[in-house]
Amino acid sequence: MFLHFSILFDTITLIGFAGCGKTTIAPLLAQRLNYQWMDSDHWIENSTGKTISAIFEHEGESYFREWEYRWLQTISDSTSTVYSVGGGLPCQNGYMEYLKAYSWVIYLKTDFPTLYSRLSEAKESRPLVKRLSYLELYHLFEQRLVYYEQADWHINAQLPILEIVEKIVLAVSTG
Ligand code: S3P
Repeated sequence: MFLHFSILFDTITLIGFAGCGKTTIAPLLAQRLNYQWMDSDHWIENSTGKTISAIFEHEGESYFREWEYRWLQTISDSTSTVYSVGGGLPCQNGYMEYLKAYSWVIYLKTDFPTLYSRLSEAKESRPLVKRLSYLELYHLFEQRLVYYEQADWHINAQLPILEIVEKIVLAVSTG
């Protein structure tokens, strides 16, 4: 089936807490739309030559956040792109507005127990999860909701993956 698009942007940004599936869904969505996929964490790793974990460990979180700011400056002239961004990126002052000025922003909504059980299995590559207790992580999740909820669309990210992809395609194609 061919879908006609009447879209304002041909750029989509997937946001949500760590473990919500951004880096799984983004490449599938990009393939579905014949767009390119770019991930803010991958860009930072390529630009610095370091893993996110190593940056947190050696340079600290604020240095990592500076690189997120640099990444943000790269999106203004993008076309036909699906972005996935680190869970903390949209939660810095003004960043949601910036993302929304240049792309459709999709919040991949997932409940905390589901996120936590996924994150517990991949602690090593996730510095915040390694460092924070269950309760601290829950507080961080709660604090971030106010930012995530500013997205153009909220999509239930606990559905089967291909269903999520189709829901996003439908959302952006109807504007
Ligand atoms: C972070 C989430 C991570 C990564 C970094 C910080 C956060 O990305 O950007 O470890 O602040 O929540 P994912 O959301 O892709 O795990």
